[in-house]
Amino acid sequence: MTEDATRDALIAAAREAASRAYAPYSGFHVGAALLLKNGDVVTGANVENASYGLTLCAETAAIAKIANEGWIGELTEMALIGGRPDGDMLLGSEAVHPCGRCRQILNEAAEQSKADILVHCASGDGKVVQSYRLSELLPAAFGPKDLGLIPD
Ligand code: THU
Repeated sequence: MTEDATRDALIAAAREAASRAYAPYSGFHVGAALLLKNGDVVTGANVENASYGLTLCAETAAIAKIANEGWIGELTEMALIGGRPDGDMLLGSEAVHPCGRCRQILNEAAEQSKADILVHCASGDGKVVQSYRLSELLPAAFGPKDLGLIPD
């Protein structure tokens, strides 16, 4: 697959995941799609809670899935999309970026994967995509390398 095709496939998978968000409080549906080194794609969506503060973000849900499968060191690239659902559509013209906590959680998998992962941030309407390396979104990160957990 070309780089553009990979990006577009990840955004499509994230969009599909967003349709399974549980977000009755904010009404904002977020989907994340993680690409593993073997080409598999693992997705997650946000899971809200009546206590509000216990909400799980889409990226966190997806990272928990790969960690629980033993794949935390297999991440290479990801996409994120978010917006307000309207029938089959997701409304929103601004690219959605990972929150601060999610950047840190993504960094854990990225360091374990020895990859400065590509993060594609899409708007709900799909018209805006902004792509970054995780190191741009979380410069000078603290992670497992600082605890001597990442062998050279
Ligand atoms: N949200 C995510 O899923 N990921 C982020 O990085 C930012 C925010 C979710 C949490 C909440 O359910 C909704 O978006 C509105 O904040």
